[in-house]
Amino acid sequence: MTGQAANAKLMQAFLSDDLIFHPSPEFRNNANVQDARIYLDAEENWLQYWDKEAGNLHWFKKWDRTLEWEQPFAKWFVGGKLNAAYNCIDRHLREGRKNKAAIIFEGEPGDSRVLTYQDLYREVTKFANVLKDLGVQKGDRVSLYMPMIPELPIAMLACARIGAVHSVVFGGFAAEALRDRINDAGSKIVITTDGGYRRGKILPMKKNVDTALEENTTVEKVIVVKRTGAEIDMVAGRDLWYHQLMEDAVIGCPAEAVGAEDMLFILYTSGTTGKPKGVVHSTGGYLVGASSTHRMVFDIKEDDIYWCTADIGWITGHSYVVYGPLANGATTVLFEGAPDYPARDRFWAIIEKYAVTVLYTAPTAIRAFMKWGEQWPAGRDLSSLRLLGSVGEPINPEAWLWYHEQIGRGRCPIVDTWWQTETGHIMISSLPGITAAKPGSASIPLPGLELDVVDPAGRPMPAGQSGFLVIKRPWPGMLGTIYKDAQRYVDQYWGRFENMYFTGDRALKDKDGYFWVLGRVDDVINVSGHRISTMEVESALVDHPAVAEAAVIGKKHEIKGQAISAFVTLRDNYTYTDQLVKELKAHVASKIGALARPDDIFLTAELPKTRSGKIMRRLLRDIADGKTLGDISTLANPETIMQLKEQYAE
Ligand code: WT7
Repeated sequence: MTGQAANAKLMQAFLSDDLIFHPSPEFRNNANVQDARIYLDAEENWLQYWDKEAGNLHWFKKWDRTLEWEQPFAKWFVGGKLNAAYNCIDRHLREGRKNKAAIIFEGEPGDSRVLTYQDLYREVTKFANVLKDLGVQKGDRVSLYMPMIPELPIAMLACARIGAVHSVVFGGFAAEALRDRINDAGSKIVITTDGGYRRGKILPMKKNVDTALEENTTVEKVIVVKRTGAEIDMVAGRDLWYHQLMEDAVIGCPAEAVGAEDMLFILYTSGTTGKPKGVVHSTGGYLVGASSTHRMVFDIKEDDIYWCTADIGWITGHSYVVYGPLANGATTVLFEGAPDYPARDRFWAIIEKYAVTVLYTAPTAIRAFMKWGEQWPAGRDLSSLRLLGSVGEPINPEAWLWYHEQIGRGRCPIVDTWWQTETGHIMISSLPGITAAKPGSASIPLPGLELDVVDPAGRPMPAGQSGFLVIKRPWPGMLGTIYKDAQRYVDQYWGRFENMYFTGDRALKDKDGYFWVLGRVDDVINVSGHRISTMEVESALVDHPAVAEAAVIGKKHEIKGQAISAFVTLRDNYTYTDQLVKELKAHVASKIGALARPDDIFLTAELPKTRSGKIMRRLLRDIADGKTLGDISTLANPETIMQLKEQYAE
């Protein structure tokens, strides 16, 4: 179907209210979950439901209690002992998957590596021994700043094996953002590479680590994986080559039996302040949630070739590239590069090459594919695909239909999955064998979970009216706390509504109980499915000597969903030039990373403020989205906003 035809179909469907896709009988009859009674059974006794799901993992010692709930702190599978790496590797060796591909790696330059479960066992246990020899102990933090290469999941699993806590920092973050995350975690070891490939260029990852560590006092060793052969500085006494350490390492390392509540990892995400939050996930609940949802939502079968395109630097990569699939003994594809390098059919070439059966990607990618045109996927054999997934932001129905037609060729169900770094695993999604899909809606909460849409007082909203998206009971993957800041955890998530976790999202439930997520209500921007805090970008801007004050907002963007717009006032003695705008954009990118680079920066004499001095971001958003201005009666300086509006229109 062409874009136009899809739009026509869409319009028609909206008018007749019947844009619903039911799973085919064939898909249903082969699905892992075929019986809708699972929702009712789970509802009847949700703790028993999670108990049963936990039974799919290997426990060294069974838990005594499923849940201890001292709001807002949950302890799951209390008394249980397990190991995440053991669950992701060892148990598969005994269950007939020794020679099965665990990881299929596709490098950006086109190199490829397949690691069987036995290979993974060897590499992970060797590296676990390396870490131990370097003095890493249970509970120690290890920061990983790496591209999407096999050594990244290997290092994560090696940490998990000895009970160390990994903190993966997305490879696109700049030195300063990396520094903050290493310092907050108090890491003992940093693992990185001599560079990562990005569209034929080499990212200077090691150099960023060197800068990040300039004033650091906790990091003892830096382990460097050789990936590109780029020349780098090795600091004597601190820096060690991965391949040299691995040469002498012994195969086989006992998997530490850790408590279900022991920390598995920290993952930083942007909040509403400039300081990133270290989201803490524990071992037992997280692994139960990630593996159970992965099996159900992606309908994982023994011979699937499953590909989640997310970077491991984000939660999607943690749960659905690494832990979920490997705990389920699946084959997971790991791709280092970009979708348009060397050509715009790279994704489709990979699907063809490995006969990928399940694809999980993001709306922003799909919108880019739409723009590039149908000829790219059309030129590749995509007949192996049987199921598609989406995550990161609401998927607009046009993109949904395009994905369905052009990639799924009309055959594959699409699961739109809503969740967050904090939830650890998917919370709202259809189950592809039983739930009908409505394009644009993530559908209904998974079995055992309770979410709702409420008004400011916490009362449920009537169908069709928007409110705040909340979670009403604990779930296994829920974050334990914010690292070293339990108060922030309590305030941020449990302070807004009584007895409910606040997601920060706005949503509505339709007459069928389907959830339509409408976006964030806080000062968080969703750029290409990645969360960026306006405060973080604002602090990066005011850090520049020319900037007096900055206000940052998200504005609609065709491909990215939202893009960053900044409004900036200058200090005396600085004047507006295009050069300065360029410099400010580069400054933000160098402080946080390219993903935070503002699309546009407006220099203005003043920012619109209330009489109490609060910047009115709402008005700036209205300007950026070209809307008529809302109430400006509370402004102290109404003339400013009119000037800005004119300036913006130019
Ligand atoms: C926020 C979480 C774990 C997913 C990757 C991003 C938005 C995510 C959807 C979806 C509508 C979605 C929400 C959420 N979001 N998935 N399917 N439909 N919105 O993780 O960085 O923690 O961001 O992403 O606003 O709160 P994250």
